[in-house]
Formats: sequence, structure tokens, C-alpha cells
Amino acid sequence: MQSADQAPQAAAPDGKSNGQGLAGRRVLVTGASSGLGEHFARLCAANGARVAVAARRRERIDALTESLIGSAGVDAAGFSLDVTDRESVDACVAGVVERFGGIDVLVNNAGISGAGPALDQERDTFDQVIDTNLRGVWATALAAAESMRREGTGGSIVNIASILGFRQATGLAAYSVSKAGVVQMTKALALEWARYGIRVNGLAPGYFETEINSGFFETEAGEKMMKRIPMRRLGRLEDLDAPFLLLAGDGSAFMTGTILTVDGGHVLSTL
Ligand SMILES: NC(=O)c1ccc[n+]([C@@H]2O[C@H](COP(=O)([O-])OP(=O)(O)OC[C@H]3O[C@@H](n4cnc5c(N)ncnc54)[C@H](OP(=O)(O)O)[C@@H]3O)[C@@H](O)[C@H]2O)c1
Repeated sequence: MQSADQAPQAAAPDGKSNGQGLAGRRVLVTGASSGLGEHFARLCAANGARVAVAARRRERIDALTESLIGSAGVDAAGFSLDVTDRESVDACVAGVVERFGGIDVLVNNAGISGAGPALDQERDTFDQVIDTNLRGVWATALAAAESMRREGTGGSIVNIASILGFRQATGLAAYSVSKAGVVQMTKALALEWARYGIRVNGLAPGYFETEINSGFFETEAGEKMMKRIPMRRLGRLEDLDAPFLLLAGDGSAFMTGTILTVDGGHVLSTL
């Protein structure tokens, strides 16, 4: 077996590292048609990465791809992806590998909330949430890691978990179960794949206003929830930038199986 100091590390094509270690890296962002995923894709492009963006809403993916290509010197490509469909995942990853020659960084971000009281929901809501947030993350991680192992250059996988992977909230039972699974999956795969130089880390955001929760923060429940955040505000997308770049790039070269919480202290709220 390979020892840790022999494990491959992804290197920029010129063999050098910029500050974030993303220059020239080939990045796939799932769920890039809105919210956090779109933000991560733009951030990676701004840091010199070649970016593949994927989701189901193809028109949004095409618009984002065009906008990325419009920025000076950015190489970007768009792909259709339904993470609940294994064939779609495999085809997307194969398409990125064909287009870029490999994948260095996977941002495993696609997710849905399936919000609602457990007893009042359609029974298949639970399945949809698990299929997207857990099975989808698993299938995409495996497809990308197979390519990284084949190439032998290692890589970085960033799973987007949630503070609901550690705590729970009324009406988000399936979501909490799925994100707790993502936390444990991150650690389990980190343990298995360190020998290939593949690091697997997680980002656990608190509350950021996006399409997944739009409207909630204007409700009475949303306002009450915000008062329980120790820093008394929602996250701003740019609050995720430094933690995300740390995990995606070379700054975390000796970190794997770590979950970084970015939540204004929300997970600490008093019981
Ligand atoms: N916003 C928050 O406060 C917050 C907090 C913690 C964690 N998160 C996590 O952050 C991630 C992004 O969420 P967001 O807040 O940015 O919400 P969002 O704007 O609703 O984005 C979700 C993304 O996931 C994609 N997606 C959903 N189902 C998919 C499927 N079957 N296949 C492929 N893509 C799929 C959506 O694209 P299409 O519909 O086009 O497929 C969309 O691009 C999620 O994993 C979420 O759980 C968010």
C-alpha cells in the first residue's frame, strides 16, 4: 500500500501553485444552476480554474457557461445532470473527463430541501430527498473518484453538507437525515481514498438565502429562527468563499474528512 507521503497530489499544469491552488484545475460543480453552486462555479473561475457546471435546468447552465466564457481567459463547459439518475451522473462525469482530460475538484453541491411535516408529506418526498442529497452525492463522488484514481493525480472533493447534518429543525427531517449521511460519507470516503491522494472534505453552511429556502425568512418562523443565530444575520454567499477555497484548493493539502461549519455560530444555539 502507498504511504501517505507517496500519495499523489493534484498539481496545476505548470507545476506551480497560486494562492488558492486552483489555477488550471479542472472543477466540476453540481447544482450550479442557482444559489451556492452558481456562486462556487464563479469563484472557481475567478481563481483560474477550468469549470464544468451541471444541473437539470439546462437553459440556466447554458447561460452560466456563456457568462463564464465571457470573462477573460475562463474555460467553461455546461452539462445536463440529474444526480438521482446513475446514467446521467456517469454521462456527465465522462463528458467532463472528455472535455478537460480529467477532474481535479468535485463540488458535490446539488440538493433539495423536501420541507414539510413528516406525517403530512407524500411518502415519496423522503425518497426524493435521499435520492438527491445522499445517493446523488455518493454516485457523483464515486464517478469522479474513479476518474481521479485512473489518472493517478489525486484530487479534492468538497461535499456540501449543512448544519442540519448535526442538529435538526421542525419540518426538515428527511433533509437532516440526508445531510447527516453526507457528513458521515465525507469521513468514510476520506478514510478510503487518502491512499489515492483524493481528499474528501465537507462544508456545512448555516442559513443562506437561495431558491432552496426563498420566502422562509419573511415568515414569522423565519424571523424567529434568525434571532437564534448568535451573529443575528443570515450568511452572505461571500462568507463561504475563504472556507470553500481552502477545502477545494491546496490550502487543505493535509486535510481530509474535515467538515467546516460556516453559520455565524448557529449550530451552537442554546438548547
Ligand atoms: N441555502 C442554504 O441556506 C443552505 C444551507 C446549508 C446547505 N445548503 C446546501 O447547499 C446546496 C445548494 O443549495 P442552494 O441553497 O444553493 O439551493 P438552490 O439554489 O435551490 O440550488 C440547488 C441546486 O441543486 C440542483 N439540483 C437539485 N436537484 C438536482 C438533481 N436531481 N440533479 C442535479 N441537480 C439538482 C438545482 O438545479 P436544477 O433544479 O437545475 O437541477 C440547483 O442548482 C444544497 O446541497 C443545499 O442543501 C444550502
